[in-house]
Amino acid sequence: MTAPISLSQDELKTLVGRAALDYVVPGEIVGVGTGSTVNKFIDALATIKDRIRGAVSSSEASTARLKALGIAVFDANAVESLAVYIDGADEIDGRGHMVKGGGAALTREKIVAALAQRFVCIADESKLVQTLGAFPLPVEVIPMAAAQIARRFAAMGAQATLRLKDGQALVTDNGQHILDVRGLSIAEPLAFESEVNQWPGVVTVGVFAHQKAQVCLLGTAQGVRTLTF
Ligand code: 5RP
Repeated sequence: MTAPISLSQDELKTLVGRAALDYVVPGEIVGVGTGSTVNKFIDALATIKDRIRGAVSSSEASTARLKALGIAVFDANAVESLAVYIDGADEIDGRGHMVKGGGAALTREKIVAALAQRFVCIADESKLVQTLGAFPLPVEVIPMAAAQIARRFAAMGAQATLRLKDGQALVTDNGQHILDVRGLSIAEPLAFESEVNQWPGVVTVGVFAHQKAQVCLLGTAQGVRTLTF
């Protein structure tokens, strides 16, 4: 597909959201992520809703959008496996490792991704990086552990700050808080994810290396570029 050079970031998101339809398996339940790029995918999915059984959703926001468009939403516990999970990313590297959680949905995103045989990431080209870490890393934490976890990041030379909404700590769909961690350069995403995951009070770290993407549909000025990992 060839795109004119003047496409906005929003138009690139629409392009990859539509391109992701090629990965939806007819007659099946599709895993659906969260975010502005996924919203474009959900809108596209609505055009073929009669050809799928429904979706497993990764957030209350995506669930509301899916339902509003007449797409059935299944509980993750009702599904043993999904052919595909489609979601955006805040960063993706050349191996399919990602940083996610800019929309605070990382925990459910990782749960739904773990059900899927294939993770298809949809993103505009600004998300492709050499090394993860320039985007502040979201970490969902149990509130009583937030200060302790922030000190652990400080010992690594990074700075963790509590994410706020309307002046108060943001509360996730799971009733927990988010730390955003600046100053990291994540050279070994698999090892980093494993390490931070086992700190007491960490619910989910926003590095998706164990649940990495197998495919990335990248919106570029030249059209949709497909990366496989
Ligand atoms: C939400 C996410 C999103 O996938 C990520 O923040 C990208 O969002 P967008 O498509 O709006 O740029 O991880 O928790």
